[in-house]
Amino acid sequence: MDKIHSLTGMLDHYDDGDIENISVKIFETEKRIKKVFTNYKYSEIRTPALEDTNLFVRSAGDASDIVNKEIYSFNDRNEKNIALRPEGTASAIRAIIEKKLDQTNHKLWYLGPMWRYERPQKGRYRQFYQAGVEILGYEEGAPEYEIISMVCSIIEEFKLKNCSIKINHLGDKESKKLFCDALVEYLEPFKDSLDEKDLTRLTKNPLRVLDSKNKETQSILKKAPSIREFIKPSALSLLENIQNEYKDICNIEIDYTLVRGLDYYSGFVFEAISSELGAQDSFLGGGRYDHLSLKLGGKNLPSIGMAIGVERFASLIKDIATSNKVVSFITLTSNLESKPYKIAHQLRSLNSNIILDLQLSEGSLKSKLRKANKNNSEYAIIIGEEELRDGTAVIKFLNDELKDQETVSIEELFSFYTSL
Ligand code: HAM
Repeated sequence: MDKIHSLTGMLDHYDDGDIENISVKIFETEKRIKKVFTNYKYSEIRTPALEDTNLFVRSAGDASDIVNKEIYSFNDRNEKNIALRPEGTASAIRAIIEKKLDQTNHKLWYLGPMWRYERPQKGRYRQFYQAGVEILGYEEGAPEYEIISMVCSIIEEFKLKNCSIKINHLGDKESKKLFCDALVEYLEPFKDSLDEKDLTRLTKNPLRVLDSKNKETQSILKKAPSIREFIKPSALSLLENIQNEYKDICNIEIDYTLVRGLDYYSGFVFEAISSELGAQDSFLGGGRYDHLSLKLGGKNLPSIGMAIGVERFASLIKDIATSNKVVSFITLTSNLESKPYKIAHQLRSLNSNIILDLQLSEGSLKSKLRKANKNNSEYAIIIGEEELRDGTAVIKFLNDELKDQETVSIEELFSFYTSL
């Protein structure tokens, strides 16, 4: 009998114990990325592989490549048009809305297969795995620091070299509109030189023209207006603060031409790339999508997230030799104050055996300590305005009947945390 083969662009993975084998690296990657997610106190969400096709058309946008040419969709036996999910964000939001959980905050992670009908090549498959996180219900500020901190932790965990994180800000609705208008006006005289794909982008979502692979379009864009001139000063300082706080851990570049391939993004966006990957050089991407919940019929739910391409990520790992107390990290400063997030990041780098729950919500110390007790934290590290000014932190001993709390210098905090 003839043998039956797997479908084009869909790979089998098998753990044969050889640490050089990409499948073994993929499994190890998944295990350790999951550990980072749980150490950051995120909760798992698992959604079906098949969804109503409209979910992706409405979220990714009809100008996106995903919807235009990559979606695996077909009619089921009941003539309902369904699709294999091409990404995880829309499904996560759909699930949260459906469960009526769209009025609260969530820190979620997922790991699973996604499907896109692409031309297979190195690093590009028709079935591939994504490990992602979605932070739902928080305005711009703390979540941006948290998510870049997490990207840096993952890069550190696997000791990746030759990679960098590109960051950009797509502006709020108003500045995005002003920039798009300026871009359309600039491109108008060059219309005859644009290919069909870029012309469609120009009418449906002008920002996407910046992502054109066409060499002629790229050279026309060299003199185009930059989004830098249109975004608010707060957006510029967010980019600069993130770059400054994390540049000693990973190479972070502000790239004002970075746009993402899905229409739902608003505000802060980012991608991590590696020079070792060749043409498909992006191993992770994400950003803020404040309007997606409303677009899918839910409540206003400002959110941000990212997804790692597991196969691409695993191919970067050189050495997979493998290598729990809960601590709550409580800030009583403004959400936009960046220093505490960097301290939390440094703590996590110092001792990865500890589960550090950085409380992102604003609220009273009392409510935050209640949460720390609820999640079984042994200690709470508290940084308020006074501590920030004095370069100190408070360590609160939540399980110690004899000791209440101690104010220590940041250096002492680092030694304490290392010794846990
Ligand atoms: P994305 O940039 O389309 O974002 O995909 C994220 C990552 O998945 C890419 O950086 C890449 O590593 C990997 N990837 C994409 N397509 C393929 C493919 N055909 N073969 C192998 N790897 C691939 C998203 O999907 C968003 N949902 C990310 C996000 C989450 N934004 C907010 N929350």
